[in-house]
Amino acid sequence: MRNIDEHTITEAVIRSLDACDNPRLKQILTSLVTHLHDFARDVQLTEAEWMEGIRFLTCTGQMCSDTRQEFILLSDTLGLSMLTVALNNARSDGATEATVFGPFHVDDAPKAEQGADIAAGAPGRALQVDALVTWLDGTPIAGAEVDVWQADEDGLYDVQIASLGGQRRARAVLKTDAEGRLRFRTVIPTAYPIPTDGPVGRMLVASGRHPWRPAHIHFMIKAPEHETLITHLFREGDPYLDSDAVFGVRRSLVVKIEPDASPRAGRPSSIAVLRHTFVLDRVGEPGADRPGERSSGTPSP
Ligand code: BEZ
Ligand code: FE
Repeated sequence: MRNIDEHTITEAVIRSLDACDNPRLKQILTSLVTHLHDFARDVQLTEAEWMEGIRFLTCTGQMCSDTRQEFILLSDTLGLSMLTVALNNARSDGATEATVFGPFHVDDAPKAEQGADIAAGAPGRALQVDALVTWLDGTPIAGAEVDVWQADEDGLYDVQIASLGGQRRARAVLKTDAEGRLRFRTVIPTAYPIPTDGPVGRMLVASGRHPWRPAHIHFMIKAPEHETLITHLFREGDPYLDSDAVFGVRRSLVVKIEPDASPRAGRPSSIAVLRHTFVLDRVGEPGADRPGERSSGTPSP
């Protein structure tokens, strides 16, 4: 293996994987090397540019901590997270679509009862969420575990506010009732910029992109014998619906937040309401042969 040049190096690297006894790893590395080399040839990558690329990746790693995951942001802003979601979450017609998980989920969200105010002091205009969780044929799913998290009126998640000292707000884990219903009070979400104080933010600026995500609430819904659903509901009318910095918007996930017209005792008339039905796929339906469920243990920035 001598005198390797730009024409033979790809084949040489691929041949170096001959002894790899993990077929999936071998497949991934072979494809990765092929595409990386093709990319370098395609753009005629200079040494100075590749050094800059290495500096960027080094900085991305250095930005990561227990509470900040810059590589997830990089994957999100390059569309790789959403592509992976799309590749791994084929759904039956009528089932709720999945979207990106994002970096702001925590594993220790407080448990809340039906009807609870999960805002727990987060600033914002009150919002009542009245949702239903069903199977594809409309059968309600009782006892589904629903993990909800969102930003407040200032566009901040609790984990981004150091002065809260780890206090959790605008997030909770609830269970659907016997009729598959899910009711909770929260605040109307607002659009927010993804963190821009690191290399990913600099990449966005350098490439003329904005960092904004349209207003949304995150949901992760788990029920026995059903595929776990990780998704958001986006607020209709948000100016960033067509330019989400992480490419996560699906038309079917855009919902109206409207004043409550239904006369229900004890509810102030000015409160806004979001109504939605989440439809889960059974295990064994189109999404069932996925390589693996996404982890819920992602660190928060
Ligand atoms: C989020 O929606 O929480 C999010 C997703 C991707 C990158 C940053 C934030
Ligand atoms: Fe979010």
